[in-house]
Amino acid sequence: MERQRIALANQELLHGGDYNPEQWLDRPDILKEDIRMMKKAGVNVATLGVFSWSVLEPQEGDYHLEWLKDIMDRLYENGIRTILATPSGAKPAWLDEKYPEALRTDERGQRRHHGVRHNHCMTSPDFRRKVREINVRLAEHFGKHPGLILWHISNELGGACFCPLCRKKFQEYLSDKFHGDIETLNQAWWTTFWSHRYQRFDQIEPPFANGENSIMGLNLEWKRFTTWNMTDYMKSEIEVFRSLTPQIPVTTNFMKLYPGLDYRRMAKELDVISWDSYPRYHNDYESLYDTCIENAFDHSVMRGMCKDRPFLLMESVPGAVNWHEFNKQKRPGMHKLAAVQAIACGSDSVQYFQWRKSRGSFEQYHGAVVDHLGRDDTRIFREVEQTGQILKKLQPVTKSIVRAQAAILFDWDNRWAIDDMKGLSQQKKQYEKTCLSFYRILARLGVEADIISRRDDMGGYGAVFAPMMYLIEEDTAERLRAYVRGGGQLFATYLAGYVDQNTLCYLGGFPGAGLKELFGAYSEEVDTLYPSDRNGIRFADGSIGEVRDFAEVLRVQDAEILGTYTDDYYAGGAAVTRKKCGNNGGAAWYTGARLDDKAMEKLIARALTEAGIPVSEIPQEVEYHCRENGEYRYHFWLNYGKERVKIPQVSGEDFLAGSCPAQENFVEPMDVRIFLERKNTGKAAGSGMAAIPEMEVMG
Ligand code: GAL
Repeated sequence: MERQRIALANQELLHGGDYNPEQWLDRPDILKEDIRMMKKAGVNVATLGVFSWSVLEPQEGDYHLEWLKDIMDRLYENGIRTILATPSGAKPAWLDEKYPEALRTDERGQRRHHGVRHNHCMTSPDFRRKVREINVRLAEHFGKHPGLILWHISNELGGACFCPLCRKKFQEYLSDKFHGDIETLNQAWWTTFWSHRYQRFDQIEPPFANGENSIMGLNLEWKRFTTWNMTDYMKSEIEVFRSLTPQIPVTTNFMKLYPGLDYRRMAKELDVISWDSYPRYHNDYESLYDTCIENAFDHSVMRGMCKDRPFLLMESVPGAVNWHEFNKQKRPGMHKLAAVQAIACGSDSVQYFQWRKSRGSFEQYHGAVVDHLGRDDTRIFREVEQTGQILKKLQPVTKSIVRAQAAILFDWDNRWAIDDMKGLSQQKKQYEKTCLSFYRILARLGVEADIISRRDDMGGYGAVFAPMMYLIEEDTAERLRAYVRGGGQLFATYLAGYVDQNTLCYLGGFPGAGLKELFGAYSEEVDTLYPSDRNGIRFADGSIGEVRDFAEVLRVQDAEILGTYTDDYYAGGAAVTRKKCGNNGGAAWYTGARLDDKAMEKLIARALTEAGIPVSEIPQEVEYHCRENGEYRYHFWLNYGKERVKIPQVSGEDFLAGSCPAQENFVEPMDVRIFLERKNTGKAAGSGMAAIPEMEVMG
């Protein structure tokens, strides 16, 4: 049974960020000034303790927690609460010296030297024990501190270790998974190919860069194992807090669509989902809108992991980071837009890395609220302060959530399998980008989408989009069939259902697992186009969409043909199909080729209309979201463009200005408008969502 989750007691939106007072313990004047400035900036939370192990425990067993208590006390007295991190993101020198097994081994089998961060073996019993010991101290000392609201496990857990301990654990994991039967594994991984058959589990190595990395099943299972082992490690940290401070929720900070770990597996162990967002704002290769809509997509991935609850934006930069290829400053107004975007997408916080710039070392030029200048009248400080004021006004939003009507399926192991499959065009597979393009189209149509896993409940969504659903197991196929039978619009594309959970190809036609009956069509061939190749799909209304990169030659059994290819040896052949299913209006749509956005938008709009989801046209460069509870809807309009933009008719109060909307409403360039609509009293553009009960928050 799933553990009863505890929610964050956030009656207000959190505003703050990573704070490293341990770097300034010899400067009480600065520590005092920090509190004054935090209050001025409207900061109500600080994340402490990330990377402070060498100050908390300078020698093994010699704990120094008094400075931390002092800081937490002072913050609390000044209305600032604490998110307390465990220090395991970086190890002190004594630990690696005494317990070298805690050092990570890379994919060529080379053990790393001491230093940097995020470089531990997650299996090492010594490492786990040392982390546990300090976590117990933290829990005992601070678990009842009135300022403590959340435990923050480690920092950006990631990477993989290839040491002998991990290798052994991998072998045990495999033996467990394949019930101790090496023949089952040989079958599942098709190891007769290139004479790769194993006789025993203890012969199996991780996919070393200079070793066996040509078995797709092994590569995929290693990724799953790495997630499993990382989750196991994370649980070993969490356990301490579950038993000693059960009232305090737990999070860890995720990194966007980090490729190395399946966050969905880890999310199950957490009370609160949080993540770090660092888009390349104002770059020279895409519009600001495109940069931001990708960030909205990432927010939606996080939201998909904590449905009906807010997530937290744990880190973002005021100003510029120091690790992009070009570290451009956020332009005036960008800070406010990014902050409101996070809230609009379902976050209950806007937090920064970092409060104050460090004087030395690796991140000394990384953006912060407080610069080396030390002043509270810099442009960046003033923009942070303004954000603090906006968040204060937006307090009531904490009791609302985003309700999406559509969902996009995005899965880590599908992504891993696609990346690793040898075929098509290595550079053009672009699974993540394809999912993002669906999100962008839905956003343009004013339709909120959750990004969910194929294992999530799809019942609440009128339409489910499944781009490049390459890996499908039988039970997923059954759930998809049930979804369509129940009246859902399932919209799949090329590359659907090629392989099972072990990456073995389905026989008898793709999509396999019985899905060709659902779609009424199957793929006989898949063609890869050179960038200069041209083909198109002609639709019944005479319009032609452009085909890019991939085109499947479809054989239709009993589906309607909505579009046919215009060129090449498959000209006239089916390219887009739909098969209706049952009496509930459900249908399975299939698009055999990668289409240009305009043509895809038309198709998607058709499927949405069939699903009864209202479609509108959001103005160019503008992003729209809605958060709601039983009583209110908050409509967020964000304009990333250079022009003032008229937005569709709205009703309700202009939330930031506190006035009624005019006849015509505009959003200024690089600005936001938020309208508060009382439910059943008016209808604002892009809404039309079902009423939901008021969200529960812990009081
Ligand atoms: C994050 C990390 C922070 C800091 C930041 C810089 O990924 O969690 O500790 O390094 O990046 O942008």
